[in-house]
Amino acid sequence: MNTHPPLLSVSNLKSGYFTRHGTISAVDGVSFDLHRGHMVGIVGESGSGKSTLALSLLGLLERPGRVVEGEIRFAGKNLRALNEKEWRAVRGRRIGMIFQSPESSFNPLATLGQQMCEALMTHQGLSQASAREKAERALAMVGMPQPKEILKSHAFELSGGMCQRAALGLALSLNPALLLADEPTASLDVLAREEMIGLFKEMKKRLNLSMVIISHDLGLIGKLAERTLVMYAGKIVEAGPTWQVLGTPRHPYTRGLLACQPCLDLEPQPIPAMTGVPPSLGKQVTGCRFAPRCRWAGSRCMSDDAFQLRPVLANHHVACVKSEGRDDVF
Ligand SMILES: Nc1ncnc2c1ncn2[C@@H]1O[C@H](COP(=O)(O)OP(=O)(O)O)[C@@H](O)[C@H]1O
Ligand SMILES: [Mg+2]
Repeated sequence: MNTHPPLLSVSNLKSGYFTRHGTISAVDGVSFDLHRGHMVGIVGESGSGKSTLALSLLGLLERPGRVVEGEIRFAGKNLRALNEKEWRAVRGRRIGMIFQSPESSFNPLATLGQQMCEALMTHQGLSQASAREKAERALAMVGMPQPKEILKSHAFELSGGMCQRAALGLALSLNPALLLADEPTASLDVLAREEMIGLFKEMKKRLNLSMVIISHDLGLIGKLAERTLVMYAGKIVEAGPTWQVLGTPRHPYTRGLLACQPCLDLEPQPIPAMTGVPPSLGKQVTGCRFAPRCRWAGSRCMSDDAFQLRPVLANHHVACVKSEGRDDVF
């Protein structure tokens, strides 16, 4: 049991897109805690609401998107109450971020050095010379060879892996309390992905890094996160210790995801791969939203509370009526 208050506490967060064609409930009542020095992994198919959740946590959700309900507490602060000026003191500085495309972390017109120095001078009040020195140290820390030379380059001159490393260096140079990464390895080749995982592990150990990692790559989450949340149709359908969620998954959706990931390091259960596609998030659905794709679905799955998380073990919750207290139903 961790007796310290969580660094990040999200409760009943709801975010949607309000379009002319209707409302899309992309994040629909998500709750989780993250403790200092821990990593929480969020997995799910494309369209399950992961990026909308990330943008909501960073105060970056733009129209037609909007956070509509819930609370985001970070280091004791209610982030939903911040104005844009206050957000600028938190985003990048207290909460670092890395996105899928490493190039999006940099301005293509400026060198890495110019951008890193500007960030360090603005956020930490460093002189040009100290900022340059710190930028060099940050790049060396994330294993960039010849940081002096790299600082003179533009993002497009680097390989994807190098660029993502530099993005991590930039994010970490500001000593954030929390790092949020949305699909940090999705655009990398196999080798660069492995190197990035190694680097996250090392940074976690060295800096006691707290991190939210969003990915559809269960192998990455399996190697890094203490806790795993599985997201489907805007909701968390399974949450628990990673070794339990990925090792002995209880929700049929988690089992399906595992079966779709042949390279996963943890042994998946031998079940047929999932068929069908996620539901449209614009429709109000009664009962379990996964039921139309679930081979075990029955009449109980249509009840109002069927898609609510319920405890199956200590710290392990599953939104499936068939998983309550039993291992053998599927
Ligand atoms: N700008 C937008 N306008 C309308 N709908 C959007 C927008 N961005 C995302 N969505 C919808 O929100 C849902 C969740 O998307 P997203 O958060 O990107 O999921 P993920 O990151 O898990 O792939 C999807 O149905 C997607 O189509
Ligand atoms: Mg996404």
